[in-house]
Amino acid sequence: MKPLHDSTTPPGTPDDEGATGPRTAGAASGAASSAGAAAPVIDVRGLRFRYPGAETDALGGLDLSVESAEFVAVVGANGSGKSTLARLLGGLETPAGAMRAVACGHDLLTDDGRMAARREVGVLFQNPENQLVAECVEDDVAFGLENLAWAPERMRARVDEMLARFGLTGLRDREPHLLSGGQKQRTALAGVLAVPRRVLVLDEPTAMLDPAGRGEVLEAVAALRRDGLAVVFVTQEMDEVVGADRVVALERGAVVYAGDVPGLFEDVGLVRRLGLGLPAAGELALELAALGRPLEPLPLTLDALVAALGASG
Ligand SMILES: Nc1ncnc2c1ncn2[C@@H]1O[C@H](COP(=O)(O)OP(=O)(O)OP(=O)(O)O)[C@@H](O)[C@H]1O
Ligand SMILES: [Mg+2]
Repeated sequence: MKPLHDSTTPPGTPDDEGATGPRTAGAASGAASSAGAAAPVIDVRGLRFRYPGAETDALGGLDLSVESAEFVAVVGANGSGKSTLARLLGGLETPAGAMRAVACGHDLLTDDGRMAARREVGVLFQNPENQLVAECVEDDVAFGLENLAWAPERMRARVDEMLARFGLTGLRDREPHLLSGGQKQRTALAGVLAVPRRVLVLDEPTAMLDPAGRGEVLEAVAALRRDGLAVVFVTQEMDEVVGADRVVALERGAVVYAGDVPGLFEDVGLVRRLGLGLPAAGELALELAALGRPLEPLPLTLDALVAALGASG
């Protein structure tokens, strides 16, 4: 299938819609940057942000680096700064400061840089209702392209491609408010990605969905990942973290863990301090351990749990 994130730069004016510009902090991640590879798509170091009137920083010097094609999960307790980070990465807020704040090569500390980054970083929020603006699905998917003044032919082709990609072709004339939650979120996602992106930031995209809708959205995200799009996936669902290339945990606006997924969940003390859970299989394994049947390494999926139980007799 044709990649969603083609390298063509659409003509026209910047859009104000789902486009957003992330910044990357340059901690080496060990991922993509091998021989001649591109710079990280997100390169942020010491990123600070404070809401007007607030007495403390929402982000107090945050570092984050994301390589192209990397899938990074972001977790943290309520109020730890995940959504603030998502908005900053999307170029939707102005940082209070940073040593470095670059998204797709654009400096997020400048107005022009944020504007440019907004084209290349798409942000999908928790509530699809807030992101659907048009009278029908098709127009919603086209919205960002219209803002960018794409030529009608090219726009039609791109919209058709997005509708097909997200299983929305049969719903193209439907009014968005009549859709299921999963269909709404897929429509919003198709709209964000209709504009060619290099990075997709998802802020708890399944939090308001029922299990069926959640499955639909996760499947769509998995396909994007196979496609090589860089994804920053904010979630409170630990089962959604398990397959990530890396996980970043926030506490009070700073990164307290950045590394591989097993490394986070093996530090149960940290996980508990952060108010996070373990993936369901991990919680079961801990209960088994308390009953005198420890499993090493800690299984994070039900398949791994079943395998570990088989192996341990
Ligand atoms: N519009 C706002 N005005 C003032 N303070 C805000 C605003 N939005 C968030 N904050 C504060 O900034 C901090 C970070 O909030 P943020 O929404 O980024 O956290 P979060 O990790 O996304 O939380 P949640 O899990 O509840 O979505 C919190 O202390 C929060 O109270
Ligand atoms: Mg949030």
